[in-house]
Amino acid sequence: MSQNFGDFQNEIYLAGLSGKMPLLPVDFATLEEQAKQAMSPSVWSYVAGGCGDEFTQRNNAEAFNRYGIVPRMFNGAAKRDLSVSLFGRTLSAPVFLCPIGVVGLCSSDNHGDLRVAEAAAKTGVPMMASTLSQDPMEEVAKKLDGTPSYFQLYTPKDRDLALSFISRAENAGFEALVVTLDTWVTGWRPRDLNSANFPQLRGLCLANYFSDPHFLKRLKKPVAEDPAAAIHEWVNIFGHIMTWDDLKWMREATRLPIVLKGICHPDDARRAADAGIDAIQCSNHGGRQANGGIAALSMLKDVIFAVPDMPVLFDSGVRSGTDVAKALAMGAAAVGIGRSHAYALAAGGTEGVIHHLRSILAETDLLMAVNGYPTIADLRSAGVRQTR
Ligand SMILES: Cc1cc2nc3c(=O)[nH]c(=O)nc-3n(C[C@H](O)[C@H](O)[C@H](O)COP(=O)(O)O)c2cc1C
Repeated sequence: MSQNFGDFQNEIYLAGLSGKMPLLPVDFATLEEQAKQAMSPSVWSYVAGGCGDEFTQRNNAEAFNRYGIVPRMFNGAAKRDLSVSLFGRTLSAPVFLCPIGVVGLCSSDNHGDLRVAEAAAKTGVPMMASTLSQDPMEEVAKKLDGTPSYFQLYTPKDRDLALSFISRAENAGFEALVVTLDTWVTGWRPRDLNSANFPQLRGLCLANYFSDPHFLKRLKKPVAEDPAAAIHEWVNIFGHIMTWDDLKWMREATRLPIVLKGICHPDDARRAADAGIDAIQCSNHGGRQANGGIAALSMLKDVIFAVPDMPVLFDSGVRSGTDVAKALAMGAAAVGIGRSHAYALAAGGTEGVIHHLRSILAETDLLMAVNGYPTIADLRSAGVRQTR
């Protein structure tokens, strides 16, 4: 499918002639400011914050400045094709919505997971639906209306519960299982610690657990009668430390393609390939987990080189369409939009997320147009150069 996403800028300029301003700012910095005004201080702190002094979080975004795309002329990129293939489906755009555990709280109605799913359905951009949601995955899936989307699993300590989540995700129609490896324990997050703020401990974003027959079996009383005990049980079972043996078990537990999210070392990627895994998501959780310093982008090429036959998805630090184009040029199969879509949701609801995705895709598309790369394959074969 060919679609010139860049036409969105004409729409914005033309609307301006009749005094209509864009729903949201099209750049990350102004959007972030607007979201801060729209969010409660506790949700803002949770979404905007990261681990330690947040160096990794900043470095993720700054790393994009170290790479550039070389323009080519006489290439006639009047029409661009930004489509990619993933898990047997053709996607018209090379981006996806990252799982954001508290996105449910980022919309004014506290059903942000549903609102993001609506935006995914309207744009065709896949959603990775988080385990930590305000609404059960089945409700989220209904709003997706057939848009290819993926369920992100935080593997619980109780295998029956893990199996239940996996089969619920399969039955709900999710098309891949994204297993997050870097979050069996929460990283040290000063912003949240300074305000003793952790939404799940207040019973928020636990709908997948509180709607699960296996989880409910573990409780002595219904959640409504003793919510504190239910939350306590969630704390007990939340984070299983995954080993390679678990991966063998998980491979057998699902017919869905498995994506491993959080792999940044090429040796881990190789071993995952040997274990029959379908895709890697090179990511450091946006610097929220380990403040290790290395930008996820700095590891992307090494991971891709290690597993040339496997799709390598990327997220962490993507703030613009230019960033998307650079990650694609470096070989990413698709690029994850993280915090910024939660900001767009807070500032503008479903329409805000749609506007944000259209802005990112317009920028990606126009960059490809001006630089003379009509397809993602052209962009990839050109690659990137160091800017410094
Ligand atoms: C508030 C917040 C909650 C998140 N929750 C999850 C989650 O539930 N599951 C997961 O795999 N990743 C989660 N992530 C990580 C994102 O999926 C993604 O890796 C990260 O946002 C990318 O970094 P960036 O937002 O700086 O681009 C979360 C990130 C944020 C900001």
